[in-house]
Amino acid sequence: MKIIIINGPNLNLLGKREPEIYGGKTFETYLHELRAKFKTLELDYFQSNVEGELINKIQEVGFSYDGIVLNAAAYTHTSLGIGDAVKAVSTPVVEVHISNTHNRESFRHTSYIAGGAKGVILGFGLKSYELAILSFL
Ligand code: DQA
Repeated sequence: MKIIIINGPNLNLLGKREPEIYGGKTFETYLHELRAKFKTLELDYFQSNVEGELINKIQEVGFSYDGIVLNAAAYTHTSLGIGDAVKAVSTPVVEVHISNTHNRESFRHTSYIAGGAKGVILGFGLKSYELAILSFL
């Protein structure tokens, strides 16, 4: 089974960025743990701070992979283009967020991804990614 985690802008700074919200662990460390936990999965990872690169990656994997775990970060709340890409592909997409975006600023309450997603998991810290992977199994 092939699953990819796609992370959007500023998630490359996990571990350093607002640790009171996002925790103190880097995504690379967490990815190691995830790969050890899901040994039988082919678990790919892509991160970009650039909207078009995220769309390109969704299109590239979106007709052959079994699942996409997508944290579009701030683009969640702004990007029609990423929302349309999620709707365009046949691979199911699970939207994830580390924080509970609904108990934060009101501009984080809107998602352009959720309408095209299979489901949404948010607010469980990095564990949100693990829960999203489990949803595909
Ligand atoms: C986030 C929530 C977004 O509102 C924010 O812009 C992020 C991270 C999360 O994982 O909690 O960058 O997607």
